[in-house]
Amino acid sequence: MTAIRPVEWLGDRLMIIDQTRLPQHEVYLELADVHQVAEAIRSLKVRGAPAIGVAAAYGIALGAQQIETRDPEKFRREYQSVSAEIAATRPTARNLFMAVERLAAAVGKAGGVIEAKEAVVDEAEKIHSEEIEATRKIAEFGAALVKDGDTILTHCNTGPLATTGRGTALGVIIEAYRQGKRIEVLATETRPLCQGARLTAWELKREKVPFRLITDSMAGHFLKESRADLVVVGADRIARNGDAANKIGTYSIAVLARENGVPFYIAAPSSTFDERIATGAEIVIEERSADEVTHLYGKRTAPEGIEVCNPAFDVTPARYITGFITEQGVTAPPLKI
Ligand code: MRU
Repeated sequence: MTAIRPVEWLGDRLMIIDQTRLPQHEVYLELADVHQVAEAIRSLKVRGAPAIGVAAAYGIALGAQQIETRDPEKFRREYQSVSAEIAATRPTARNLFMAVERLAAAVGKAGGVIEAKEAVVDEAEKIHSEEIEATRKIAEFGAALVKDGDTILTHCNTGPLATTGRGTALGVIIEAYRQGKRIEVLATETRPLCQGARLTAWELKREKVPFRLITDSMAGHFLKESRADLVVVGADRIARNGDAANKIGTYSIAVLARENGVPFYIAAPSSTFDERIATGAEIVIEERSADEVTHLYGKRTAPEGIEVCNPAFDVTPARYITGFITEQGVTAPPLKI
């Protein structure tokens, strides 16, 4: 089985696997400039909070390489617009802004243009390797929570595709299985864009982890019927008090898990925690295009000319979260990381 390469820096281009084509087609794209990287993030060709952060960092690095000037002032002005283009792609994942801020700090410290161009590539590569290492630890800490015979319910896609590393929630699940635990997974379809049906099912199948695909509205039924022993999901942004934004539908699962006495864990690297915001009320929820709701796999399923709501994420209050699985261990909210 060939390894998945969700995001790979080629020195003067960025290669990604096009996640919108999976599972039918395994297509790699070479992105040649910052505009192509920004488009890939916006259109979810590359997606999942940590993978967005890594792609954002390389996208800015690519844009910085292509600024043609030796004048530091002109370089900084053009760098601002490269960085702003990436920052405007998707508002919710903290990882994207972490990358923007870390690269800006690296440029700020650099002496001249050549040094700045080197510094952004170095910083992007550092972010990438840190994410890989964080998911390795998350998988190990999280797997210790999984018992032999457990059924784990998960939502959206949080595997290698979403992280460039081993995965957050899905990394925990795959690691528990690799350790020989006889587990089963209930993976939600994750409407509207079906990251669960398309991507989580693809990743679990590759790893040969036993799983069943369910529609989102079935989650409550399985929790009530004691057919899930724990829930593990990822996150896009976590506030200081532990309120956590994740794919739309996560909040309902968390409330239903609590109602039915099922532990609910969030697995996320420290790059997803936002020290600047006190509560989840400050998290900007991305509103995406109506087409994603009126269509399924590109085919219209709703009548023409109707109103639609399409928030891509919801916020689960900290009180529903049993614990956070991070690269530093497992902790209960509120969290200081
Ligand atoms: O809109 P997406 O597909 O980028 O949303 C992804 C999620 O909500 C994931 O659960 C989250 O980013 C955690 S990924 C490890």
